[in-house]
Formats: sequence, C-alpha cells, structure tokens
Amino acid sequence: MKDDQDFDREETANTARSSATEHSPSRRRFMRNIGLSGLAAGAASTGFGGAAFAASDKVQEAEGDTPAEGMQRVSFTVNGQAKQVDVTPNAVLLDVIRHQLDMPGTKKGCDHGQCGACNVHVNGEVINSCLSLAVMHDGDEIKTVEGLDGEKDLGPLQQAFLENDGYQCGYCTPGQMMAASYILADDRIGNSGDELRQAMSGNLCRCGAYKNIVAAIQDARSKGSEA
Ligand code: FES
Ligand code: FES
Repeated sequence: MKDDQDFDREETANTARSSATEHSPSRRRFMRNIGLSGLAAGAASTGFGGAAFAASDKVQEAEGDTPAEGMQRVSFTVNGQAKQVDVTPNAVLLDVIRHQLDMPGTKKGCDHGQCGACNVHVNGEVINSCLSLAVMHDGDEIKTVEGLDGEKDLGPLQQAFLENDGYQCGYCTPGQMMAASYILADDRIGNSGDELRQAMSGNLCRCGAYKNIVAAIQDARSKGSEA
C-alpha cells in the first residue's frame, strides 16, 4: 500500500546528520557503484528482513533453441540491451533481474510492494518489480538503476543525490532514483516539496533521508534534468 507518511515527516527526518558536502572520492565511488553487489553488505543492517541476496556470479541468459521443460523464454530489453532468459512461470521480475541478469542494483526490501526498493521502469512506467512476473514482460523495455549512468560519469540525477546527500546506507537509493527519474520526466508533477513528497510516497527510507531526497530531486529539476 502506498503511503506518504514518511515523506511527510520531512521536518523531523535526519536534519542533524553530518554532511559529506565535499563529495569525497569514496562517496562519489559509492554512488557510481550503487548498482553493484557491494551494497548488499550495507543492506544486511537496514532491517529489510534479510531479503538481500548475494549477486550471482554470472549472467544466466537463455541457451539453445527452446527452453527446458517447465521453463518459458522471455525476451526484453534491459537498459537498451536485448536480453533473453528462460524462467519458471512464477519467476519474479526482480529476482530475474538480480540473479539471472546479475544486475543487483535493484533491491529487494519488503517484497510486498510497499517500500519501492525494487522500482524499475517498464515501457516508461515505474513498477514494483517484486510484484511482477517476468513472463509478463516479453517484448517490454525495462530500465534499471544501472541505466541511469551517464556516458562517462554519474548521471545528472545521481549527481544531484550525491550533492544533496540524498542517501545514507544507500539501500533504498536505487528505487528512490527510479521513482525520481520518472517524476523528472512528468511535467504534471510540480517541484514543490509537497508535490514531490506525494509523488515519492511509495518509497520508504529506513535512514530517514527524505528531506535530502526531495532536495536532490528539486536540484535535478532546477538543472533541467530528465535523468
Ligand atoms: S521490495 Fe518493497 S516494493 Fe518491492
Ligand atoms: S534506507 Fe538507507 S538511505 Fe534510505
């Protein structure tokens, strides 16, 4: 269920936290690597129910002309690259992205559609990938947080999160950025704090970085980013 209580607590959330305002190389590297499995270690302490998995060692794309018995072949694009995977009919898109495609940037938090950690774009819309079966996405265009990278460095939204301290442990950050990316491209959503909190209401942050997340989105928007 979507609820905006946490974003509404902006005034009390984490204002006293120290700021890494100089954007140290390590913090920058953290944001650059936000899709990598290093975040899984941080995830263990976030209280997200131990739902984080270790990244698989290699991509498991489909092989052969036909899928094995009991499997279904699904073709889609992920961050602009054509992918083909054989999955069981009940395979969840989030798990396929993380484990078969070895892209652990998209996180599993609640696994019940309530936290937004698993947000990805499908055909331009934000969805909770934990609630969606992979077999439903044949032919779809999927974008994950790894697809937000700039050509040579951080993408503009990542840069805004970095400059505004829009994350602490970083576990929720991929999902926050995928929702924010969608918002930046939607002119119907205004740039006031209230409007952005409402629009981001499906995303929870256990670290309480809400105020800075809203600031990051406003910053990205003021610079004309559509991430
Ligand atoms: S893991 Fe929480 S909404 Fe999907
Ligand atoms: S859960 Fe830690 S930064 Fe949001």
